[in-house]
Amino acid sequence: MFTKVISFSILGIDAIPIEVEVDTKHTSMPYFTMVGLPTNSVKESKDRVTAAIKNNGYKKPARAYTVNLAPADVKKEGVGFDLPIAIGMLSSLRQIYPVILETVGMTGELSLNGEVHPVRGILPITIAAKEKGLEGLIVPEDNANEAAVVEGISIYPVKTLSECIAFVEGREAIEPLSVDISTLFEKELRETIDMFDVKGQYSVKRAMEVAAAGSHNILMIGPPGSGKTMIAKRVPTILPQLTLDEALTTTKIHSVAGKIAREHSLIATRPFRSPHHTISDVALIGGGSYPKPGEVSLAHNGVLFLDELPEFKKSVLEVLRQPLEDGVVTISRAVQSLTFPANFMLVASMNPCPCGYYGSNVEGHTCTCSTTMIQKYVSRISGPLLDRIDIHVEVPAVKYDELSRDPKGERSDIIQERVNTARDAQHRRFAGSKKIYSNADMESKQIREFCQIDEDGKKLMKIAIEKLGLSARAYDRILKVSRTIADLDKSEKITPAYISEAIQYRSLDRKYWV
Ligand SMILES: Nc1ncnc2c1ncn2[C@@H]1O[C@H](COP(=O)(O)OP(=O)(O)OP(=O)(O)O)[C@@H](O)[C@H]1O
Ligand SMILES: [Mg+2]
Ligand SMILES: [Zn+2]
Repeated sequence: MFTKVISFSILGIDAIPIEVEVDTKHTSMPYFTMVGLPTNSVKESKDRVTAAIKNNGYKKPARAYTVNLAPADVKKEGVGFDLPIAIGMLSSLRQIYPVILETVGMTGELSLNGEVHPVRGILPITIAAKEKGLEGLIVPEDNANEAAVVEGISIYPVKTLSECIAFVEGREAIEPLSVDISTLFEKELRETIDMFDVKGQYSVKRAMEVAAAGSHNILMIGPPGSGKTMIAKRVPTILPQLTLDEALTTTKIHSVAGKIAREHSLIATRPFRSPHHTISDVALIGGGSYPKPGEVSLAHNGVLFLDELPEFKKSVLEVLRQPLEDGVVTISRAVQSLTFPANFMLVASMNPCPCGYYGSNVEGHTCTCSTTMIQKYVSRISGPLLDRIDIHVEVPAVKYDELSRDPKGERSDIIQERVNTARDAQHRRFAGSKKIYSNADMESKQIREFCQIDEDGKKLMKIAIEKLGLSARAYDRILKVSRTIADLDKSEKITPAYISEAIQYRSLDRKYWV
């Protein structure tokens, strides 16, 4: 007897419908075979399904079993096929009589005693189920909140195989779970931290505002304890608020990575990811035999914070180049290559030297590093990576009296408003372009068109290059950042004042560093 159950497989950050077909026959030579490109994680399903069936009072007689996963040309991954295979087998054996398999899909991992455990990627699965026109989707209870974010499809949470059977046979109703997406979005929008916690550090906060306004990557240089990590964590709060669309994409990525907590079904604030410098290439960029998004994708639409940048392995910093340039990561595999979104703002930090106190004003600490040591330390960050970082800012140690005297800083929402204004100007400027969204994205053609400077500006640039010893690569970056500073000031013209502020943001280009 032949049965068909609708389920799903993850491909990148999307899901595709898979028909799980089960056929059982009497035979003198019993066997179990699974066809249709199952990976190991899917093949292991057989043992879990067999145990779950038996432990729930059903039988698995010695027969010929064929499980076919269609379409055959897509690699099937994950543990979510347990539940559809179990239902398909029992139905094919005529031990159960499902009545809704044409209109309801299902996914879920089975434990040996028949509990339904959560799976990764439930958000893209639910979106795919809706797009297929299904009336409903049976999901593990622990995934239900995440699935319910999708409107227009009924979500039926189940805890056990028996519950699922009772439901598909029409013996027990399950109340579909629904959430109001706009209310949820509003609720999750609220940030718990704020820039006003950061006392003093006016120039650093200003640099962060400029970076956020033009989508520029930024590097902070300062001694230990100067507040670099504290400030970096608050960058998402001054970036423009996520739109619902952006929130859904970011949530999809986290969903596929299995990183959505049971109680948080929607990520509505910009993500902040801060991987440790011992991270591997794969963990940073994504991949693996069952490709998962890496940190760069988990930071999509948000901030990737690389603390102590020179400590990261060279190979790891090397793989950052593709996402920094293209906003995506491509993972090549034997069967097909996958693309994960990876459009983030890079915020990096470093000490000025190996001991941490070069040129700093921290009492009781004097730098003991030689010039060679400092040069070696700074040169660990390769030129191509440095080329993608428009702003360098020095973070001085805040003096105690400033910390205790100062009331509070400016609130994030006030800074965010100015950032929004500057972003609006950029949207208008780049409205016709498919590749350029912000000042940071500009290439030489746009720089020539939108960053024109007058004679005074040119003189200033000349002095900066000659006297401060700024490198040639600094030139275009200074122009882009000046454009953003002008946008923050609602000025069409780039004046020498904007240029001179932008010149200050090139610390690492000055000769004494390298
Ligand atoms: N400007 C500031 N306003 C308020 N608190 C601050 C400020 N700077 C530092 N602090 C306090 O000092 C602590 C240490 O700061 P933080 O960890 O951000 O420094 P850091 O520069 O990242 O240091 P490290 O180089 O050791 O990583 C913070 O948790 C915060 O409590
Ligand atoms: Mg830190
Ligand atoms: Zn030192």
